Amino acid sequence: MYALPVLQTRSSPEAAVQRPRSVRLSLTDRCDLACIYCRPHRHDGYLDERLDLEAWQTMVRGLVTAGVRRVRLTGGEPLLHRDVVPVVRFLDTLGLDDVAVTTNATRLEKLAKPLRDAGLRRVNISLDSLDAGRFARMTRGGRLDVVLRGVDAALAAGFDEIKLNAVIVEDENDAELEDLVQWSWARGIVPRLLEVMAIGEGANLKDRVVTANEMRARLAHLLTSGEAEREKDRGPARYLLARHDATKKVGFITGTSDTYCKGCDRLRVASDGMLRPCLATNDGLSAASMARDGDANAVANAVADAWTMKPDGESFKGCTESSAADVSMRGIGG
Ligand code: 5AD
Repeated sequence: MYALPVLQTRSSPEAAVQRPRSVRLSLTDRCDLACIYCRPHRHDGYLDERLDLEAWQTMVRGLVTAGVRRVRLTGGEPLLHRDVVPVVRFLDTLGLDDVAVTTNATRLEKLAKPLRDAGLRRVNISLDSLDAGRFARMTRGGRLDVVLRGVDAALAAGFDEIKLNAVIVEDENDAELEDLVQWSWARGIVPRLLEVMAIGEGANLKDRVVTANEMRARLAHLLTSGEAEREKDRGPARYLLARHDATKKVGFITGTSDTYCKGCDRLRVASDGMLRPCLATNDGLSAASMARDGDANAVANAVADAWTMKPDGESFKGCTESSAADVSMRGIGG
């Protein structure tokens, strides 16, 4: 038996969704960039504890036993983890409904093809600017040419879907809204525009949020009018179609102007094995020892316990809650 930390249930005893269906695995909290809305500088501390490949496999088996059907690998930057390809290969054997990766693409030039060959079908690429100087500023030193080569490699590898995530910061990259959309569309990439969320370092950019409504107004000439629609089992983004081409769309992620906690079926696992039921709080419990011991059933029980700590999605307002400012986005993987 393992001693579990005392649970602090912060909500109704019954979470709205009975169990997690979707999980984000933060393979590593390390990142080779330091985006202005994510971390204060390149030398903020990293977690001490890490899981190896075998422990991740047990973790995933336990998650699947607990009901998880969709897995996304995140970071930090997940492609910095030396076992990212074997992890994908393992996930591909499980018959899950979805396996995807979110990456900053700095290592995608080398890894796109191995990841595709390992069974990966979908990639989300975080890219906030197509201007090399601005990109370097927003990422505190990142090289746009390296990332663009990564995007090209992803396009060549033949993924089913590539999305681009751009966090829009007023007076930084908001002038690039249309360029980011057109550039993505020209490549068959689905652009998604994110409001800055007041989570971690993003809490310092509260006065530079561009709301999805504002973005949409600036892109009105390109988009259909009407309600932006969510896609089933595809997270919180809402999509509008291109006005002149129904095969193209833009997603908006409104973590600030509108929260989307109701019905959230997501669990996160940090790179140290902490199970975290909500992006906007630091609550959770560790399943690291169970994963290291190869005990998938114990992991599944821990998942059920962690899920009781999920805030109720009705009254809790996600990343607009004050608890979000204390969360490390890099440590939890978005
Ligand atoms: N607000 C909005 N999006 C953020 N991301 C990281 N930090 C923030 C923030 N404060 C984005 C990254 C990546 C995704 C995982 O989350 O750019 O695309």
